[in-house]
Amino acid sequence: MKKILVLGGSVFLGRAVATAALRRGHEVTTFNRGLSGSDVEGVEVTRGDRDNEGDLERLVAGRHWDAVIDTCGFVPRSVSAGARVLSSHADHYVFVSSVSAFQDWPARPIDEASPRWECPSDADESSGTYGPLKAGCERAVREHFDGTVSVVSPGIIVGPGENVGRLPWWLRRVAAGGALAPHPGDREIQLLDVRDLAEFILARVERPSECDLLVAAPAGQATFAEWLALCAKATGADPALVWMDEEFLLEQQVTPWSELPLWAPLRADWRHAWSVSSDAAVAMGLTCRPLADTVVDTWDWLRGTPGFQGKPKIGMASEKERRLLTAWRGKGSGSEETAR
Ligand SMILES: NC(=O)c1ccc[n+]([C@@H]2O[C@H](COP(=O)([O-])OP(=O)(O)OC[C@H]3O[C@@H](n4cnc5c(N)ncnc54)[C@H](OP(=O)(O)O)[C@@H]3O)[C@@H](O)[C@H]2O)c1
Repeated sequence: MKKILVLGGSVFLGRAVATAALRRGHEVTTFNRGLSGSDVEGVEVTRGDRDNEGDLERLVAGRHWDAVIDTCGFVPRSVSAGARVLSSHADHYVFVSSVSAFQDWPARPIDEASPRWECPSDADESSGTYGPLKAGCERAVREHFDGTVSVVSPGIIVGPGENVGRLPWWLRRVAAGGALAPHPGDREIQLLDVRDLAEFILARVERPSECDLLVAAPAGQATFAEWLALCAKATGADPALVWMDEEFLLEQQVTPWSELPLWAPLRADWRHAWSVSSDAAVAMGLTCRPLADTVVDTWDWLRGTPGFQGKPKIGMASEKERRLLTAWRGKGSGSEETAR
């Protein structure tokens, strides 16, 4: 049994980590402001703001944990301050980074040896965007935490509770009976179930070692078309998908990745969104459940959460989708097929 402190712990990945840690027999403390989500039953809940050093000092007073799992570090300066405070109160720091910390992603294939963005460990949030700041956060932990440091950089995470809203958007669209889809459908994707990631992180906590690992579903998981077919099957829909060329989508100012979630065009700057090496993680025991289970469980969760809204800017507005369908058909180039 390990004593684990989860920074965050009340939404998506943090909740999955706290839930899995309890199930694996660990003692779990979560630290968050009590603003975003709900606490997992069975954890010790502590409240505070990680950007406030006084709150962190109160958190650690007289305490010691085997491991800290940081699921919500986004600003290097704040992560530096936290790592300094936590240094003498924990043996192991697992920092959840991202593929976005790698400067080659998504234009080129990446593995653990690929270069990270340059970003200093004392950068504040105005110093850069999400990816470079994540790279700065990794440096912050390595520079300021005295014990063992593990950095885990996930690719795209989906599953029940997904707070970004990518898979939820597609599930709702497909359930509504129709959706434009980005050609080519045989493009391979890599979607990591949040629960598999949580188990992988906890395995690192149980066998602490300095490590730096990309975590993504292994290649060959599914194509975009197969994944949409799974969405159709889960929702019981039979959508008439309209596969549109990427040139057309780009001409129509559709924003890759976010407006049409998970759409990474084959053009150079997005070509390798799904070329994230998972070899090292698999060698260390990463196992991924069938994508069908992830899709079904996410649909079940979504149906039980009718008010769910993803992050702003995720998903295309229905009016724009209708406009694109009309324009595409007007070109006389429609190729329609069902998802099954
Ligand atoms: N989604 C993906 O596909 C993807 C891909 C790669 C990497 N990642 C990484 O995976 C992680 C996702 O974590 P997540 O799903 O648990 O959600 P998250 O949005 O990163 O974290 C939210 C959690 O952190 C807490 N929190 C936020 N600001 C805080 C503050 N100032 N002080 C204390 N607690 C604070 C929130 O509670 P309160 O608001 O109540 O404080 C909540 O519990 C992130 O590190 C992300 O960069 C995600």
